[in-house]
Amino acid sequence: MPRSTPVPALAAPAARVHDSLVLEPRDVRFDWDRLPLHWIPDEPMATHVINVLHLLLPEGERWFVKVFKEALPLIRDDQLREEVLGFIGQEAIHAEAHQEVLDHLLGQGLDPRPYVRQVAWLFRRVLGDKPGLGPARRRENIIERVAFIAAIEHFTAFLGNWALNSPGLDRAEADPTMLDLLRWHGAEEVEHRSVAFDLMVHLDPGYLRRVRGMAVSGPLLVHLWVRGARFLLAADPTLHGRLKPTWREAGRIAKRGLLPDPVGSIRSGLRYLRPGYHPTQEGSSSQALGYLATSPAARAAAGG
Ligand SMILES: [Fe+2]
Ligand SMILES: [Fe+2]
Repeated sequence: MPRSTPVPALAAPAARVHDSLVLEPRDVRFDWDRLPLHWIPDEPMATHVINVLHLLLPEGERWFVKVFKEALPLIRDDQLREEVLGFIGQEAIHAEAHQEVLDHLLGQGLDPRPYVRQVAWLFRRVLGDKPGLGPARRRENIIERVAFIAAIEHFTAFLGNWALNSPGLDRAEADPTMLDLLRWHGAEEVEHRSVAFDLMVHLDPGYLRRVRGMAVSGPLLVHLWVRGARFLLAADPTLHGRLKPTWREAGRIAKRGLLPDPVGSIRSGLRYLRPGYHPTQEGSSSQALGYLATSPAARAAAGG
């Protein structure tokens, strides 16, 4: 398989690309048969910190799809409805792509199911649809969950932008199929980074809603990530519980370009709270589309 490489940003204004946003779900396939357990060679910590994505995204992105389908009848703008439908199509495929990695981990002797069961409980029960609400409370409940998703999508775009600009992973000879998964998904996250935010503002333009979304989603994501990394390192049959994740070690690994900088990630969350913030200010749509034009999986999905 050809190695996927970071794509240089082109000088097209992001807002203009966004104006003509047509989101195309790309029905990608990845072959995991030869994926090593530590797909960044000799870097189990970096591998498993990134692997937390596979623990969270199948359930998380299925939840995005459910909430956005519930939100569809509330949308009063045809262009936005089209974008939400495109978003739903892309997230549904993302969830299944990461699910396949989970299944592969299980085949390698690392059983992710105890953690995934907790994640499923969170997204299905705690953050799921609440039957029996009257129309006004139901609408409020949907908008609140859209705001949680808008804040999460800020981080998925941040991580996607990092994946597209992470030559450290190439230097470390990370597995090319996993790199393509991360960069294909990352590119689509950058491509659709405005949709959840625009939907939230369409349903409730109030600043408080945005703050509340980040106040819940930001700490929740950090918590899930730390627990997920601990879980994977403990469950890895080759490590015998000897490796424990620490912030200091994550910072060191980030300096080598194998993880996003933890401090930079938290700063990014704070940018979301700036009054004039819009997701188009972060990342580059033209760089994302540039990667999708060369991604081995996306090209195969397009028949090219
Ligand atoms: Fe996604
Ligand atoms: Fe997304």
